[in-house]
Parts: sequence; structure tokens; C-alpha cells
Amino acid sequence: MELSIATPDDWHVHFRDGRAVGDVVREVSRQFGRALAMPNLRPPLRTCAEALAYRRRILQVAPEGFEVVATLYLTEQTTVGEILEAAASPSVVGVKFYPAGATTHSEDGISDLATCEEVLSAMEESGLPLLVHGEVVDDGVDIFDREERFLDEVLAPLVARHPRLKVVLEHITTRAAVDFVNAAGPSVAATITAHHLLHTRNDLLVGGIRPHFYCLPVLKRSQDRRALLEAATGERRRFFLGTDSAPHEVGRKESACGCAGCYTSPVALALYATAFEENGALDRLEDFASRRGADFYGLPYNGGRVRLRREKWEVPASMPFGAGRVIPFAAGRTLTWTVTGRDPI
Ligand code: NCD
Ligand code: ZN
Repeated sequence: MELSIATPDDWHVHFRDGRAVGDVVREVSRQFGRALAMPNLRPPLRTCAEALAYRRRILQVAPEGFEVVATLYLTEQTTVGEILEAAASPSVVGVKFYPAGATTHSEDGISDLATCEEVLSAMEESGLPLLVHGEVVDDGVDIFDREERFLDEVLAPLVARHPRLKVVLEHITTRAAVDFVNAAGPSVAATITAHHLLHTRNDLLVGGIRPHFYCLPVLKRSQDRRALLEAATGERRRFFLGTDSAPHEVGRKESACGCAGCYTSPVALALYATAFEENGALDRLEDFASRRGADFYGLPYNGGRVRLRREKWEVPASMPFGAGRVIPFAAGRTLTWTVTGRDPI
């Protein structure tokens, strides 16, 4: 069985920096025509100049025709001037809000969102989307409850204060987040990863701890996975593809204190096709992967098409990653969909 879809977008990728970028972009560009690059480098990308320079570093090692759009990293020092410059730049399409301490390289993020009111108003006025890592970070809140608590305590008041602010709730993991987006107005959307569509916390924790299934927000229960699958394959167009592919060198994952992040880029479309097939919705994959996100961001669709075939292949055990190695998600497993190629038109 063959499937051909308009060239898709990945609206959430961690390309990293330095030599590793080439290894990541090779995998992403085999399947996607455009990707949104996350700004959580060390140090983070706080200004348009830094974000655009990073975009150029990625493009330098990317194949011809691959497009990258950049984001700013929101800090308590971000200025309205920077927001206006970003809004005027076609290659900077959003600002990423990390609650300080929520995830990898979020130390420079936000402790008190009240410090950002002017900046948020400027974004609302200029139509520049806020991309949200939706987890509270309080020590007292259980890690499995952090997304749901964020919806009540941070996102609902934020959306009430700024009803026209475009918001992308990134990598949603719970039924509560699906319900939130469904109940919200047209300015609120969400990305959904392939691993959250296919896996639950049992895959992370039953029969041994599997560090390559550990990401943030952490995998949840089967009823949450169901809700994500219904949202991704449903008619509502405010759910779209973002892998949150987040490579870490193997030693930083397989460790007594392993980093959060699943490197799904090499297997992304194969996983999404498997998830959509599970729900009998392969005919919706193209809208989810190639149209809805572009429509939300107000960007043109990619040209060309990507071909997939229902054919088994074994995911490599590891891959090059700069000077080291990275373990791709589903390493050593047999997947049922293969990306066979790209057609220019
Ligand atoms: C991401 C990373 O490693 O940069 N990790 C992750 O688990 N998703 C950061 C993030 O998006 O939370
Ligand atoms: Zn991410």
C-alpha cells in the first residue's frame, strides 16, 4: 500500500547546534519541507539577530529547498522592541515560553509571567504567536499532573487576559489539554508528537526503565493517548504536527540522571502514519501534517509530495550525532511504514 501526501511541516524541532545540526537536519529534511526550530540553546536565542543567525547555521547544512523558521526564547528581560522586530521578520514566527525549570535548558525562562504583560500585549497586537511549554514547575505538584495544573493556573488566565493572542500549546499529553483547546477560541492551537500518539507511561516504566521514552511533558495514561489520537485524527483543525524531536548524545540519556527528550526525527512520519492507521484515519494525515499548521501560522504550503509505503523496516540501533552517537526513538524496532521518497511537484 502506497500513500502520498503534500510535503509536511514539523512545527517543533530541536536541531541543537554545532556539528550535530547536520545530522539532525538530514533526517528532518528527508520527510519534511519546513521545520520550526526551537530556541533552547545554551545560551538561549533571546534576540531576532541570534534567532536568524541560528536559522542560517541550520540552512547552511540543509539540502536546497528546505525551509526553517525560527523562534525567540522568552525571558523576563525580553523587550517590546524585540517583539516588534520579530513580528516584522518573515523568518521569526513565534516566541517560546518555558516556565523556568520545566525542561531541558529552561533555566532562563519565566518565573513570573506578570513581568511579561507588555510583551504579551505587543504579541497580541502584532499577531506573533506564543508557543507554550505547558507545565507548572512547583515541587509540590506531581509530574503527571503538571500539564493539567498549568491549564488551570496559567493558561486559562493568560487566554482570558489576552483573548486575541495566538497561542500554540506545544506537545500536549492529556485529555485535559485536548478539552482545553477544543473549548478555546480560534486563537488557541496545539501540536501533538508522534510518541504521545503511540505510547503511554507504561512503555517508559513497565518491565524496566527505558530512558529513550523519557521526555517532557512525560508520557501519560492510555485514556490520554486516546484523546490525543481522537484530536489528531478528528475534524478540528487546531491540532497539528510537531514532533518535539529532541536528540541528546547517548551518554546523556543512558545515565543515572538522564536528559528529557525523544529523538523521533528519523522515524517521525512512519510513526504518525502508524497512529493515523490505528484510528482508521490515514486520509486525514495530510491535513494534520501538511496544512493545518501552515494555516494557523499564516504561511504558504510546501510544494511537492512525500511518498510512504506500508513496508517493514528496522530502525537503526544508533546514528551519528556530531562527535558522538544518538539513539533514535524506536531503535532496533520494526516499523510498518517507510518513507520512500519525495517528489518535487
Ligand atoms: C526538550 C529538549 O531536550 O530540548 N526535551 C523534551 O523532553 N521535550 C525540551 C522540551 O521541549 O521540553
Ligand atoms: Zn521541545
